[in-house]
Amino acid sequence: MILPTRLRKNPAIRDLVRETHLAMTDFVYPLFLVDGEGIKREIGSLKNQYHFSIDMLEEEIKDLKAKGVRYVLLFGVPDEKDAEATPAFSDDGVVQRGVRKIKEIDPDMYVICDVCLCEHKSDGHCCFFEENGDIKREKTLDTLCKTAVSQARAGADMVAPSDMMDGHIAAMRKALDEAGFESIPIMGYSAKFASTFYGPFRDAANSAPAFGDRRAYQMDPANGVEALKEVALDVEEGADIVMVKPAMPYLDVLTRATEISYLPMAAYQVSGEFAMIQNAVDNGLLDERAIYESLLCIKRAGAGIIITYFAKDMPELIAKYQ
Ligand code: PBG
Ligand code: ZN
Repeated sequence: MILPTRLRKNPAIRDLVRETHLAMTDFVYPLFLVDGEGIKREIGSLKNQYHFSIDMLEEEIKDLKAKGVRYVLLFGVPDEKDAEATPAFSDDGVVQRGVRKIKEIDPDMYVICDVCLCEHKSDGHCCFFEENGDIKREKTLDTLCKTAVSQARAGADMVAPSDMMDGHIAAMRKALDEAGFESIPIMGYSAKFASTFYGPFRDAANSAPAFGDRRAYQMDPANGVEALKEVALDVEEGADIVMVKPAMPYLDVLTRATEISYLPMAAYQVSGEFAMIQNAVDNGLLDERAIYESLLCIKRAGAGIIITYFAKDMPELIAKYQ
C-alpha cells in the first residue's frame, strides 16, 4: 500500500488529518451604502450584492446576523462627489450615517470602514495631485486621516485604509490617537496591486478614475519582493492587521508576507474573483464547491481573515463540504 492512502481511507481519518477549516469568524462581508431612501438595488456587475440606502439596512443586518456574519466592511457611494472628497470625511457622509445606523440595529455587528478618497472624489482617484501630476502627499494624508477619525467618531470598530499612500498608517495612527481613538485598530491594505480584477467593484463604487490609472500608487502585479517591502513598512508604521489584495492570483505574496510579518494576515477576494467564480457556477461550468475551495485555499495560504462577497453563502457551504 502506498503510504498516504492510509490517511485518506475514510472520512474519519481525512477529517482528523485536515489542516485547514473554515469558520464564519474568518469572513468579512463588504457592504455598499448609497444616498437616498428606499434603495436596495442589485449591483449589475456583482450578483446578489446590493446598494443599500441607510433606511434599508435593518433587514440586511438582521439577515447577516442570522447567517452568522459578524464583520462588515463599509464602502460609501455618495450621489454628489466633489473635488475635495468632502463626502468621505463629513460626519454626515453616507458611511458615517451607515455606521451609526448599523450600531443602532445591532451593537455587536463589528463594523470596519474602508478609508479612501476614490469613491468620494470627482476624478475617482485615491489621492490629490500637484499641477505636474505628482501626488500631493500632505493634503492626501490629511484628508484620509480626517476620514478615519470621522468614521471612528461615528462608531466604527476598525478602519481600513486602501489608498496606498506612503506613510498613511503612521499618520492615521497618530490622528486616531490624538482624537482619543487609541483602541481602534488599523487594517492596512498593505500589498494592493493595480489589478484588473477590481473591474466589477469600480461599477459598484462608481470609482473608475476619470483619467489615467492607479499605477502611480498601486503595485505592479509583477512585483513580489516589493509587496513584502510594502507590508514591512505598514508593520513598522503601526498597522494592526496587514492585507494582500487581490487574493487568488497573489497567494504566493500572501504566504511570503506571513513569513515577514507576525501580524494577523487578511486577504481580499476581490470583485473580479467573485464574478469569475459566480458566473462559472451560474453557467454550470463549475460546481458550487469551487466557492468553498477558493476560500479554503486562501486560508491555507496564510490568511486568517478573508474579505469576500461569498460570506453570506458560507454557512451553507461549510455545512455541506467541510
Ligand atoms: C478603493 C478600493 C478598491 C477596492 C477596494 N477598495 C478599488 C480600487 O482600488 O480601484 C476593490 C475591491 C474589489 O474589487 O472587490 N481604493
Ligand atoms: Zn481608492
